[in-house]
Amino acid sequence: MTKPKVFVTRNIPEKGLKIVREYCEADIWLDELPPAHDEVLKRVRDIDGLLSALTEQIGEDIMDAAPNLKVISNYAVGVDNIDVAMATVRRIPVGNTPGVLTDATADMAFALLLAAARRIVEAEHFVQAGRWKTWNPQLLLGTDLAGSTLGIIGFGRIGQAVAKRAVGFDLRVIYHDPAQQTAFGAIPVDLKTLFHESDFVSLHVPLTAETRHMINAQTLKEMKPNAVLVNTSRGPVVDLQDLYNALRTNQIFSAALDVTEPEPIQLDDPLLGLPNCIVIPHLGSASRHTRDQMAVLAAQNLIAGLKGDRLPYCVNSQIYNLDGQE
Ligand code: DGY
Repeated sequence: MTKPKVFVTRNIPEKGLKIVREYCEADIWLDELPPAHDEVLKRVRDIDGLLSALTEQIGEDIMDAAPNLKVISNYAVGVDNIDVAMATVRRIPVGNTPGVLTDATADMAFALLLAAARRIVEAEHFVQAGRWKTWNPQLLLGTDLAGSTLGIIGFGRIGQAVAKRAVGFDLRVIYHDPAQQTAFGAIPVDLKTLFHESDFVSLHVPLTAETRHMINAQTLKEMKPNAVLVNTSRGPVVDLQDLYNALRTNQIFSAALDVTEPEPIQLDDPLLGLPNCIVIPHLGSASRHTRDQMAVLAAQNLIAGLKGDRLPYCVNSQIYNLDGQE
């Protein structure tokens, strides 16, 4: 029996690749850098399934180039790299990997929050530069968590997991989300209140037209001067030029970014020269176990789509209702 053809755009963990290879004839991109868009266009020509990552833009042109495409399985929970509306029109199911990366991403948000609050990266640079001469009562003073307010924007799985961690640190937690699903004692507030009251602001929204640059000169102005901004969602949620201006003028205390616009951040971006800004390379879900689980879910979504079964995790499940299948 001939196996369905798939293109896997990145070298995902073997736990997922093994499942893919068993069922499919797989073209797997093994390079460290992602395939260029033209390369993706070439490789999808006769594929039945695509396993993509957030480094690939999957738009109408890719779907046009792949007339047999039955499923797009994204190795991520976020699907902003995919034109889901266009896939839906074509009745191509789009899969993602929710749930399995919740704790890892919430851990990273909290690690960044603590690192920014207590100036850990700056302190490390201080020691490395040989500047540690004595204990100093005024050295590298940070900000306390206990008794402070954490404002969480986007209170889905990851936002709630951050709130859960915050309880243990005696933070008061407020959140903003269109769906008001209270958990861990967090209080729903409007955005203005969140910016005015929060000592820490942590972003957990998907990237959409509404959330693009939601952190900008105006909203930064509404934050407290001691505010710490943490972004583990998507880079374009924050206008980096406006953030740079706010940090440089100490309008807010500091920021810690796991994601930037663009990715990677340009080496000459002035944000990288600021002592009160931490930037790391999109590592929210980067633990071994989490990435293994994401790979398995992505493989399962891919194979379900190839078989014509409902994907275990589908972001456009309305396609199943269009022809009365459900
Ligand atoms: C996601 O899943 O959307 C993350 O950004 C990568 O793990």
